[in-house]
Amino acid sequence: MASKIWRVSIIGSGNWGTVVARIVGHNVKRFSCFDEHVWMYVYPEMFEGEDLGTQINRTHENRKYLPGISLPKNVVANGNIHECVKNADILVFVIPHQFVPKICSSMEGSLLKSARGVSFIKGLFCNKDGIELVSQYIGKTLRIPMNTVSGANVANEVAQEKFAEATLGFDEKVTSRDEASRLQQLFDTPYFRVGIVPDIAGVEIQGALKNIIALAAGFSDGLGMGSNTKAAVIRIGLKEMHKFARMFFEGIKEETFWESCGIADVITTCYAGRNRRCAEEFVKSKQPWNDIEKRLLNGQRLQGTLTSQEVHDFLSARNLTDEFPFFEKVFKISFEGQDPNSIIG
Ligand SMILES: NC(=O)c1ccc[n+]([C@@H]2O[C@H](COP(=O)([O-])OP(=O)(O)OC[C@H]3O[C@@H](n4cnc5c(N)ncnc54)[C@H](O)[C@@H]3O)[C@@H](O)[C@H]2O)c1
Repeated sequence: MASKIWRVSIIGSGNWGTVVARIVGHNVKRFSCFDEHVWMYVYPEMFEGEDLGTQINRTHENRKYLPGISLPKNVVANGNIHECVKNADILVFVIPHQFVPKICSSMEGSLLKSARGVSFIKGLFCNKDGIELVSQYIGKTLRIPMNTVSGANVANEVAQEKFAEATLGFDEKVTSRDEASRLQQLFDTPYFRVGIVPDIAGVEIQGALKNIIALAAGFSDGLGMGSNTKAAVIRIGLKEMHKFARMFFEGIKEETFWESCGIADVITTCYAGRNRRCAEEFVKSKQPWNDIEKRLLNGQRLQGTLTSQEVHDFLSARNLTDEFPFFEKVFKISFEGQDPNSIIG
């Protein structure tokens, strides 16, 4: 595998998906170990009276999800999932996690036996029956080895090549360090520095749970609280995230919490990002989440509310909600009409 030319497909073309495709499109031209051609799966939809994928291939810009940023010409949009994945050695997943089961089932039977995946998705499959990382779900469903990338990465800032870091987590039992380093080459640039750690769960679980903390930060902003309050919200959220990760996942490395996927991502998400923004609006407008999502997000999806609901269902099925009072408060404010002021104190 190490000497083979890797062909890369990106599954997703939203805000972050398009930025990741842009980075990969540039990087495959820098290294001879990658095929120069990059497929990008575009969920079929119309935009400005034209099929979005056709528009992307005509303009080399994703005007719906990443307006104003050009894509390299070797990134080719395609609305046919089978065509996108059938020859791919590396599948890069960047879609909101609620769409993963459907996408995976549409890919089954189309993949190369040697294919492997990298998930940039921040989310979790968690309900009363159990908990599963998105990368675990994809790996199990498609029977491919998985890796994960997460970090303090607001898409629009990375698109403008403002410096950011990210963390690539891999499983030493299935991915060699050489392979992990080659994956690192695929994503690393001078403005997007990718570190690698042999800890998939530690990297991924924080990327999912930080969206619950971001909702709390948004509530605090919506209430007009100051920076001290937000710092308190972040501290308490970080502690619960750490406890949750340790309680439900084995082998997480303590040092992973200090990587970009950990504390740095929590900080950036609590100051920028859609979850914080929508939660601020939730408090100010008192409108339902669906209305806020439609009004503010232009087709993008909110992750934090879904994760909050899923984590609540998981904890309450185990009588463990008292162990995570902060997560529980975010859930009750979001879905049970509890006063947002209760987030503190
Ligand atoms: N945007 C960011 O700043 C950012 C940064 C880091 C990580 N992430 C994570 O990356 C993942 C993808 O986020 P994004 O910002 O690219 O997504 P997005 O919310 O911008 O875009 C939604 C995407 O989903 C597609 N879609 C809509 N309906 C669909 C359906 N029924 N089936 C399949 N696809 C459908 C759309 O075509 C679009 O490509 C998420 O897990 C997110 O948490 C986002």
